[in-house]
Amino acid sequence: MPLSEHMKSPPCRHLPIFILSQFITAFCLFAYIRLSKDPGQEVQAGQPSTLTTQPVNNPTTPQPGSELTILLWTWPFGQHAALRKCSKLLGIHDCHITANRSWYLKADAVIVHHRDVCSSPKTLPEGPRPPSQRWIWFNLESPTHSPNLGFMDNLFNLTMSYRRDSDIFTPYGWLEVLSQPQNFSIPAKSKLVAWVVSNWNPDSRRVQYYEELKKYIHVDVYGRKHMSLPRDKQLSTLSQYKFYLAFENSLHEDYITEKLWSNALGSGAVPVVSGPPRENYERFLPPDAFIHINDFPSAQGLAQYLQELDKDLVRYQRYFQWRTWLNPSERTYLAIHLCKACQALQMTQTYQTRPALSKWFH
Ligand SMILES: *[C@@H]1O[C@H](CO)[C@@H](O)[C@H](O)[C@H]1NC(C)=O
Ligand SMILES: *[C@@H]1O[C@H](CO)[C@@H](O)[C@H](O)[C@H]1NC(C)=O
Ligand SMILES: *[C@@H]1O[C@H](CO)[C@@H](O)[C@H](O)[C@H]1NC(C)=O
Repeated sequence: MPLSEHMKSPPCRHLPIFILSQFITAFCLFAYIRLSKDPGQEVQAGQPSTLTTQPVNNPTTPQPGSELTILLWTWPFGQHAALRKCSKLLGIHDCHITANRSWYLKADAVIVHHRDVCSSPKTLPEGPRPPSQRWIWFNLESPTHSPNLGFMDNLFNLTMSYRRDSDIFTPYGWLEVLSQPQNFSIPAKSKLVAWVVSNWNPDSRRVQYYEELKKYIHVDVYGRKHMSLPRDKQLSTLSQYKFYLAFENSLHEDYITEKLWSNALGSGAVPVVSGPPRENYERFLPPDAFIHINDFPSAQGLAQYLQELDKDLVRYQRYFQWRTWLNPSERTYLAIHLCKACQALQMTQTYQTRPALSKWFH
């Protein structure tokens, strides 16, 4: 049955506390002035292109006249991406961001993407390091998929990762507070549970959980070895499902990826998450925005719950109440991450070293 009716907008019980904690964690860290959406750039087809305002503290006051140079040592995974002006993206003073290594000696900071250099320390910049230059270790993979961390000890001054305690916090997603309430329309639903999985490992925790779950509820599985799902069909396909299994490939604090942000929330399916504990997810999302597999003693219990929600429209709709005031950001791409680095470098003059990076990132 299609559920595309407009939600009323009753005040969400958890909202004030949630917003407060959001400010204290993410927003204060970023200290965004405001995040105005640039039209047409990163809005994906079919997604609501609602505005995004961040009512936050005062803007950062950059040093006038001093444009910092940031050298991106490698394109992450060798993939070139569009760079954009930080004044446009974050409303801050611009940095000169380049991937041209001729700038090495002049660069105020060098961003090193872990996976592109971890095979050998020889791939790191060589020669004397300019005294005030800062090296930034950049990684969005989990420790399980970050080999040779030991090479990285005693080299870096700043960290840039999905972890909240990074010097430069670059999560896979975050919520933006709307300046006015919206009537979020739940996409029309005709199917129950979907999962997209590219690395199918039968011994993995998540596949074993799925094997148990599917005894009690039907799950449509997409990805290599399963039904195909072209990228341009992903959003429209997944939005037809009431629930999406956002199962992370490894369990680490704050490691909450696009499986949640894009596949589930971006398509308007209720996320069923497996990853770090519920409390960790609640640092990023209101408690009633997702279902955690640990909320249930067994996969059978989860299946029963999903079936109950399937028959109870009012209870299902409660998983969308938070959207009255909050939107998942769609602005998570390299240019944004680099501008966050630009912002952090402008704000902090303190230098430090992460001597034991491998101990911190585990
Ligand atoms: C790199 O920068 C140098 C110095 O500004 C410049 O001469 C050179 O053409 C640039 N290389 C590329 C590929 O843009
Ligand atoms: C949202 O829905 C309510 C009740 O249906 C209506 O009064 C209000 O005008 C709507 N707001 C917007 C922005 O559409
Ligand atoms: C950055 O870290 C390196 C390696 O520990 C250190 O030698 C250097 O002095 C630090 N640079 C700054 C600007 O703090």
